[in-house]
Amino acid sequence: MRALLTKAPSRGLFAFCLLVAAWVSAAPARALVPQGQSVASAHPEATAAGIAILESGGNAFDAAVAVSAVLAVVEPYSSGLGGGGFWLLHRASDGFEVMVDGRERAPLQARRDMYLDADGEPIPRASIDGPLAAGIPGEPAALVHIARHYGRLPLSLVLAPAIRLAREGFLVDERYRRFAERRLEALRASPAAAQLFLKDGEVPPLGYRVVQQDLAETLTRIAGAGRAGFYAGEVADRLVAAVQAAGGIWSSKDLSAYRVVEREPVMGRFQGYRVVSAPPPSSGGVVLIEMLNMLDALQATQKPSAQQVHLMAEVMRRAYEDRARYLGDADFVQVPVERLTDPGYARERAADLDPERATPSRPFKPDVPKGADTTHFSIIDNEGNRVAATLSINYLFGSGFVAPGTGILLNDEMDDFSIKPGVPNVYGLVGNEANAIAPGKRMLSSMTPTFVENEGQVGVLGTPGGSRIISMVLIGVLQAVAGAPVDHWVGKARFHHQYLPDEIQFEPGAFTSKTRVYLEALGHKLHELDEPYGNMQAVHWNRENGRLSAASDPRGVGAAWVSK
Ligand code: GLY
Repeated sequence: MRALLTKAPSRGLFAFCLLVAAWVSAAPARALVPQGQSVASAHPEATAAGIAILESGGNAFDAAVAVSAVLAVVEPYSSGLGGGGFWLLHRASDGFEVMVDGRERAPLQARRDMYLDADGEPIPRASIDGPLAAGIPGEPAALVHIARHYGRLPLSLVLAPAIRLAREGFLVDERYRRFAERRLEALRASPAAAQLFLKDGEVPPLGYRVVQQDLAETLTRIAGAGRAGFYAGEVADRLVAAVQAAGGIWSSKDLSAYRVVEREPVMGRFQGYRVVSAPPPSSGGVVLIEMLNMLDALQATQKPSAQQVHLMAEVMRRAYEDRARYLGDADFVQVPVERLTDPGYARERAADLDPERATPSRPFKPDVPKGADTTHFSIIDNEGNRVAATLSINYLFGSGFVAPGTGILLNDEMDDFSIKPGVPNVYGLVGNEANAIAPGKRMLSSMTPTFVENEGQVGVLGTPGGSRIISMVLIGVLQAVAGAPVDHWVGKARFHHQYLPDEIQFEPGAFTSKTRVYLEALGHKLHELDEPYGNMQAVHWNRENGRLSAASDPRGVGAAWVSK
């Protein structure tokens, strides 16, 4: 250009330059960084802690550690140091993206038939209640890893809000009471859990203060010693002794050998958007991208609503069948990730989809999932760093077991393995060989922390909800792509199909009677649920003007803040 302009410009070139100048001045200046920073999480205390860390000079990764730790304290029914999760990170300075996999692992003494009786039948609740149901926790290691490798503040400062809340306590709300009621038996069975989370063996009244001194102590040890504060020394000894005394199979080696894994996220494209999500051992990203690819192949987003529900349900059915068939821990089994996320495969997979008829799934009768557990948060800082993190201890209050003297409530993530081919887990999900139990293996997850972006906008989203997580994120991503405001992503009415049971589950009132009649005429079985589900947290960055907006699911009690 400089060389050309040393000569007298031709009339054509001159006109072209004028046009370019006019376009440049008319085009909105692209805001390279967000105007502020934002956190959306499932609890106001966690959001407040994230914002405080950002405002004191921390980046999104520091804030993610703070938010995770506070959620571990104030949402003991959803996630915690006794559990695990996936933290999807985007670093603005170089565009580096990674998923920090802090998923639980099966203990080294785990066996594929450990939840079956002598006749090969599942032992009721063995993979759900008590310490035998617990995988080796990954969250403490993940928090230390993220703080060390990506944060810029000292771990002690980032964990301070959680330590204070554990020490001072938090107040029981309706949500806590409802969830404690559902897990009353399991909590009563563990004296340390009953002492912490119940009052005189009953669900505590509204406004009761839950104080967790031992948890504050364990967090303080982690703040001082890093992973050794949990996986070695006194805390580790107490965890192993308590688990073994109550019939579990953990050893010190299980704890010392636990490692976080950095994994390359899965990526897909949908209508000009880049969708980045969780790879195995989560099924979330693969199933999400497979569903988006099928919808693209069917050009299914512009249809009238009842017809679109049918196409989406059929797409869900097929992708969840693939989940059951192929997905597991890719460190142990071959998972055909490239094939499943390939648009060509999606075209083949959708080829038998009849726009006028439901395709029956092969018969089977799993329970309807409850899916109220787990938690999610989303963060964007003022440099453009992002975190989408979904964390879990599996079912409400995990296994219900607390190791005395540690404050650690153990997960029951072992139930996410396929304990026997075709036998459904607590979410009604079936699986096969790929997700069979093996020592040290990570159980298959549905957690789907996700980024969706194009030139003009960036979305960060995710939700709890067991098997329904992936279909909820699908609905959220479609809202983002349609240009809907962020409160629609989290608020839109939800429906779900997971291959088995062969039915469309939907939130109360999600379908009009006309839509119901249409879907039933196509051969769908409809199941209106008793209550809404999910707790999506999302942040949106408009790249044109730099503005941030955020939303917390109206079904929960979370908070979404944007700070200047
Ligand atoms: N425990 C729920 C999940 O990982 O999908």
